[in-house]
Amino acid sequence: MSPAAPETIPAAHPHAAYLALRTPIDAAIRRVLDSGWYILGREVDAFEREFATWVGAAHAVGVANGTDAVELALRAVGVGTGDEVIAPAHTATATIAAIEHAGAIPVLVDIEADTFGLDPEKLRATIAARRPAGRLRAVVVVHLYGHPAALDAIVPIVRDAGLALVEDCAQAHGARWQGRGAGTFGDASAFSFYPTKNLGALGDGGAVVTDDAATAGRLRSLREYGWRERFRSETPGVNSRLDEIQAAILRVKLKALEADNTRRRTIAARYTAALTGAGRAAPRVRDGAVHAFHQFAVLHPRRDAWRSALLERGVGAAVLYPHAIHEQPAYAGRVRIGEGGVATSERVCREVLCLPVYPQLSDEQVQRVVDALR
Ligand SMILES: Cc1ncc(COP(=O)(O)O)c(C=O)c1O
Repeated sequence: MSPAAPETIPAAHPHAAYLALRTPIDAAIRRVLDSGWYILGREVDAFEREFATWVGAAHAVGVANGTDAVELALRAVGVGTGDEVIAPAHTATATIAAIEHAGAIPVLVDIEADTFGLDPEKLRATIAARRPAGRLRAVVVVHLYGHPAALDAIVPIVRDAGLALVEDCAQAHGARWQGRGAGTFGDASAFSFYPTKNLGALGDGGAVVTDDAATAGRLRSLREYGWRERFRSETPGVNSRLDEIQAAILRVKLKALEADNTRRRTIAARYTAALTGAGRAAPRVRDGAVHAFHQFAVLHPRRDAWRSALLERGVGAAVLYPHAIHEQPAYAGRVRIGEGGVATSERVCREVLCLPVYPQLSDEQVQRVVDALR
């Protein structure tokens, strides 16, 4: 009898993340169940303080998911109906959906092929072309796959134009740029705690961080019907609250996040060495950047064949995202395209493949991926 083939390594594995911390997570859930308080309570308050400190921001406001976090961040910095908001053409659809939920019109700008962040020169050209019309209000910079976007170039471009800056950090918990944490550059910055994220809940969750107390106050109001005081709405808000169980789970997982991110970087270094050794390009980490390696994203001209070959060797790999925003039926012909077009975003969607890089991979699994890459 031949030995059983090893199981395919999944591209993501949130159950393994739960099992790694099962005892303290179960205790945290039990604590909430026994407390009798389930929405916006002591766990959320404590998590907001702990997460703000971890990011390096003054305030964190828990919300229901990352999409709401982007929407409410935009609304809290003054984006409203009919405003234009720039965002990358290669990102999670959620980024663009959130802009529209805020009543605004997305303007898609191309990305850099090597770091997957907004292309600063195309951003500058798009702002110059659209600013005179007066509808442009904000830029959403996405630190896609965990690599910080070119903030040293982007921040002054956005500031000089008098626009608001929102960071979409849904994939960038722990990414750093020139010594500062992702999420500390924007007027407000959005995080997702979707279960597969570097900091993942066991359900939906999100947060917005900001240094500005007034912005934090607007966020707290917006997330709960626009209330300033109970039952008195000052602005039309939404229901986007973080629940106590998710906050309690996130508090447990936050304690492990630094070690988890270190493990991601160790695994990424192994893959990088294997790819480089095989004469292939590995993900670029720009000087001054600390990559959070939410994904280990590699471009390959025959991506689908490469993906199949890896699967034959027991390695599951994911395509995030196969279609640029403007190529999807919901947005085609409707969203606006920035200066210089979005050809790089389109190519990246055809060529990108994400290898499993979550911290619960065993050394044996990492070695299997390395062998497959070779
Ligand atoms: C870049 C980006 N922005 C926003 C989101 C939205 O987060 P959520 O799924 O929690 O709504 C995600 C997650 O899917 C994301 O990857």
